[in-house]
Parts: sequence; structure tokens; C-alpha cells
Amino acid sequence: MITIKSEREIDLMRHAGMLVSKMHQFIKPYIKEGVTTKQLDELCEKFIRDQDAVPTCKGYEGYPATLCTSVNDTVVHGIPNDEPLKNGDIISIDVVIGYKGYQGDAAWTYAVGEVSEEKKYLMEHTEKSLLEGLKMVKPGNRIGDISHAVEEYATSHHLGVVRELCGHGIGQEMHEEPEVPNFGIPNTGPLLKKGMVICIEPMITYGHRDVYVMPDEWTVKTLDHSDAAHYEHTVLVTEDGYEILTPRLED
Ligand code: MF3
Ligand code: CO
Repeated sequence: MITIKSEREIDLMRHAGMLVSKMHQFIKPYIKEGVTTKQLDELCEKFIRDQDAVPTCKGYEGYPATLCTSVNDTVVHGIPNDEPLKNGDIISIDVVIGYKGYQGDAAWTYAVGEVSEEKKYLMEHTEKSLLEGLKMVKPGNRIGDISHAVEEYATSHHLGVVRELCGHGIGQEMHEEPEVPNFGIPNTGPLLKKGMVICIEPMITYGHRDVYVMPDEWTVKTLDHSDAAHYEHTVLVTEDGYEILTPRLED
């Protein structure tokens, strides 16, 4: 069932989403050569708890951390560890924050120091593929319209679209119906209605789109070890379009 959120629920989700945005703004200056992803995770967990909120991923199906920290060829669900970031890495930081029982979810990819032109290209066009998906969000359109727009943008820029994972509805649970794939056919799938809240999250590769899961059963990497990027927003369907509940704040 796809739930329609009440005004009260939307207000709580706006708050949860804003905390996600603020956490990204908070952690950005720490993303530098030498820092470990575990240090970033600890800083973010404290930041979240100080806001009267909860790090929803921690303990979710046994996931051990607040953040997913996915470096270079890791697509998503990288577990924070003691390895220091290096100049030239890219790192996707994905977080879900719960506030009074409602969830906000957003990811973006950050450059560590100076990164290659290829990595810049991958990041720029992954974010733009998310924006193309967003443009399709309005009542009367269907999930397939979003999926197709993301896929069309990414593949026309010669990038790979990961198919094994997808976006999702969100509310009291971090994963609700519907699924929001990053590939698909226009005018197919569930109809968008005012008051639905979904997460659109393209996971895009510089090389081939095939991925595998590491023995830790979380870390998803590209099979060819090419770089990957991940951008995600939590989005409310409004009367005539959409509202991003996890806006990117100024540095
Ligand atoms: N933000 C991720 C998602 O969109 C969170 C899942 S990671 C988990 O699905 F560890 F919490 F499972
Ligand atoms: Co998500």
C-alpha cells in the first residue's frame, strides 16, 4: 500500500528531512584526506542524537553504523571503517534520520581533495540524473516516468545504471511502497498522488553497471571496479509538482 501523508505527518517529515540536510552540511568540512569513515560516522551519530533524533540505519537488519560510507568502486552500503580517506577519492554518504517516528533519507557524493576529471564527470551527471527524475514528480505522472528520465539521462551520458537496487517510498518506515527503479518505461507503474513521499536515488557507474555484494553482506561494489556515485533526495508529491524535503544547504 502506498500511503498518503497528512499535513501533520508532512511537517514531521519536513523536520526529519531538514535534519538530514543539516547533517550533510555539518559533515562536509570533515571530509578530508586522512580522516576515517568511522570518525565521520561517530561525528554524525552524535550530531543526530543531539537533535533529539535517531540514526535509523544503526541496527536496521543488523547494519552496524549510522552512515553508509561508500568510497570509489563501492556503490552503496559501505560500512564505516578505520581506513583513512585519500586525496582523489570520492565518497558517497547516505543517511536516514528518524524524528518523532518519521524518516528522512538523502545521499550525496563528495570529493576528497582534488579528484580526476572522470570522477567529476561521474558526480556531476549522477546528480543531474536525479534532477531529471525529480522533474517528472507531479500528480498524474507514474513511477516509470521518473525511472525512465533517470535512465535516459545517465545512459545518454555513457554511464551505467545499477539495476539491483532502487529508490522507495518513505514515511514511518525508511522503506515503504512503491519501489522507485532507476530504469523503466514511461507511463507505467504506480500513479503519483499528492501527499506521497518517495526517495529517488540513482546509483550510477563510470564503467559497466554490474555489481556484486561483498562477504560482509552489505558492501555493494562495481564488478569492474570502476567508480560509482549516489545521489538521493526525499521528495513530497505536491498539488502541482514536488517539494524536496532534504534540500542541499549552503556550505
Ligand atoms: N539510505 C539507504 C536507502 O536508501 C539506507 C539503507 S542502508 C541500511 O535504502 F543500512 F540502513 F540498510
Ligand atoms: Co533511500
